Amino acid sequence: MTNAILLEREGGLLTLRLNRPDKKNALTRAMYSQLADALQQADSDPGINAILITGSHTCFTAGNDIGDFLQEPPSDLTSPVFQFMRSLLECRKPVIAAVAGAAVGIGTTLLLHCDLVYISVDAKLRMPFVNLGLCPEFGSSLILPRLLGQAKAAELLLLGEGFNGEQAAAWGIATQALPNGEAAFAKAREMALRFDTLPPEAVRISKQLMKAPDRELLRKVVEDEGKLFVQRLRSPEAVAALMGFINRS
Ligand code: COA
Repeated sequence: MTNAILLEREGGLLTLRLNRPDKKNALTRAMYSQLADALQQADSDPGINAILITGSHTCFTAGNDIGDFLQEPPSDLTSPVFQFMRSLLECRKPVIAAVAGAAVGIGTTLLLHCDLVYISVDAKLRMPFVNLGLCPEFGSSLILPRLLGQAKAAELLLLGEGFNGEQAAAWGIATQALPNGEAAFAKAREMALRFDTLPPEAVRISKQLMKAPDRELLRKVVEDEGKLFVQRLRSPEAVAALMGFINRS
């Protein structure tokens, strides 16, 4: 068992803290499995009212572990990364994210499925899927063009342009931008604990209503993207780009 995911309980709040600082909290297969299990357990635990996903005050996550992508790429949609995606997508309880520093790849796309996102103004978000020979994942090819329009979404998804926390909040990817990582976490915690004072069933029904119109479509898009992503990981374009990161000097 790894301690790269720390679970912390405070009242009805469960915090899932990414804790692999030496690798910028890059997510391994084991970490995805732990996150998926924790989300599923929290969802069925009547004592938990909200889930907070965070990293450190200076780094959210550098995305999928690139070594894992090369050595143990997901083989199909039962792989840990997709279990994590489904667990987040299907979670009935409010999920809050506190983000600072790097939020790369799935570090950005997972935010599209959180209910509330508090982010430091200078957080660095980026979805370099195409740059790595890959393709968009986790519903981003559907959600971002809808949220930002095709023209802006193309800049982020086709060119892999980065953006900061202030832009994320202005564009509706984040709820609010705060001056730094400490402030983003404090705000996220404060708002997440509010769910202890609200009627849980009303919260769950309301979240369900907000998600219901797109749920089926989103499930299908995540699956379609996932199948292509798995293929792309084995493509010469992706292998060359991923090796480029591993071998950089
Ligand atoms: N997978 C595996 N290891 C990673 C990683 C990843 N996604 N991101 C960072 N690391 C490792 C680095 O290899 C380095 O390890 P080392 O000290 O053993 O060499 C360590 O984390 C620190 O990373 P470094 O690049 O030196 O930090 P930085 O502050 O200069 O840059 C990032 C931070 C996030 C901008 C940069 O690490 C990066 O671009 N990472 C890759 C992001 C990515 O493409 N993710 C996949 C998206 S699909």
